[in-house]
This record gives sequence, structure tokens and C-alpha cells, in this order.
Amino acid sequence: MEFNDAVLGRKSTRAFLPDPVPRETITRIVDVARWAPSWGNTQPWEIVIADGPKCKTLADLFEEEGRKGVAPRPDIDMPLGFHGDHKRRYMELGRELLTFMGIEREDKEARIRHYLNMYRFFEAPCVVYFTIDGGLNVPYSCLDVGSIATTFCCAAVQEGLGTIYLAASMHFPDIVRKVLEIPADKKIVIGVALGYPHPDAPAARFRSDREQVEAIMRFA
Ligand SMILES: Cc1cc2nc3c(=O)[nH]c(=O)nc-3n(C[C@H](O)[C@H](O)[C@H](O)COP(=O)(O)O)c2cc1C
Repeated sequence: MEFNDAVLGRKSTRAFLPDPVPRETITRIVDVARWAPSWGNTQPWEIVIADGPKCKTLADLFEEEGRKGVAPRPDIDMPLGFHGDHKRRYMELGRELLTFMGIEREDKEARIRHYLNMYRFFEAPCVVYFTIDGGLNVPYSCLDVGSIATTFCCAAVQEGLGTIYLAASMHFPDIVRKVLEIPADKKIVIGVALGYPHPDAPAARFRSDREQVEAIMRFA
């Protein structure tokens, strides 16, 4: 597969088939992703895979927190809100995605179901957690994790797999740490749901838009 095909073929998948992803396949993806750059080649990441019953346990526990309306308590600071163009794009994404999925704005129940489904990792058979050493828990070091996580998502395309970065999957890191036996000195930066995209679900077919090059780039 050409590099551009992998980059353009990656998109967030929000509906998965229940079929398990063979561990050899995941290992092959990580074998590619490990070549991602990191500051000083420190490779400060660890990748912890939750598949099978562990993935289901996490989904159940996250959904429970979601149903109770518990506030997120992430290891890594998250933006508290968006402004200007960022807010506009964020709102557009939500509107376009829900419309594509056939969820009406007024249908509060369906919207809640969607958010709870997010806490279930959209029923992916597998969630891949990217952690960082606790001593590196500063924003700059998240670049390294973003670098390997995005490389992972693109490498997964080559294997016919869908992915989605899920901030929702790191809302309750204490739960993740307990279920996946991750030591307290490792901070959970992001979880990526991984699985075979559901061929019939609009949530797996949706593709978001991007600004044109001229809007985001200038030669100084
Ligand atoms: C750090 C990060 C966290 C994200 N968290 C979520 C999430 O919790 N729920 C969700 O539906 N999408 C999440 N996404 C997916 C974005 O909405 C998606 O990447 C964006 O809309 C662009 O669409 P694309 O990935 O299909 O190209 C996240 C993406 C990133 C990079």
C-alpha cells in the first residue's frame, strides 16, 4: 500500500464488527508503528492492548460511569472548551456526524445512547492504550505519543482495520490501570479503538471534512 493511501484511508470508525483482531495482526501493526519518531529517540511510550474479556470489562465499567454522569478525571489535561474556528469545526463535526447517523438534534435519548456507545468504544473488540512514563507527564511529551498513535492508525489501514482515537477512553484512567494492570507511574495518554469496520453502519462510513491547504498554511 502506498503511504498516501494509508494516510487518506485512515478515518475514525464508530461502528465495528465483533470479530476479534488476531494478536499477530496487532503485533504486525505495532512493528510498523514503533518506527514513529520521538524526542531524542526516547520512545517513552508503552502500548497496552485490551482485547477479549478485558475490553468488554472496560466497556462495561466506562458505560457505568457514563450512566452515572461521572465527570472525567483524565491523567492528562484536556481542553475545557473550544473557541472561534475551533468551536465552529467542533460543532460542525457533531452536527454532520449525528445527521449522517440519522440522529435528530431533538432526540436526546439517541444522543445519550451515542455517548454511552462511545464509552463502550463503539463495540470495538479491542482498545489499544498508549501510556507515557509519569515523569514525562508534560504537554510536550504527548507529541511522542501522538506520533506513534497516528502511525499505528495508518498502519492499521494496511491490515483492513478501522481505528478511532478516543478521548473518552482515557476519562477514567484509574479503571484502565486496574483492569490492565498498568502501574501508577504510567500515565494514560490515549486509547485507540481497533477493529474491522462495520460495513453497513453509517457511523463507520462517515468521513469528516478538512480546511483547504491555503487556509492552514502560509509561506513566510
Ligand atoms: C486526541 C483525540 C481524541 C478523540 N476523541 C474522540 C472521542 O472521544 N470520541 C469520538 O467520537 N471521536 C474522537 N476523536 C476523533 C475525532 O473526532 C476525529 O479524528 C476528527 O473528527 C477527524 O475525523 P477523522 O479521524 O475521521 O479524520 C478524537 C481524536 C483525537 C485526535
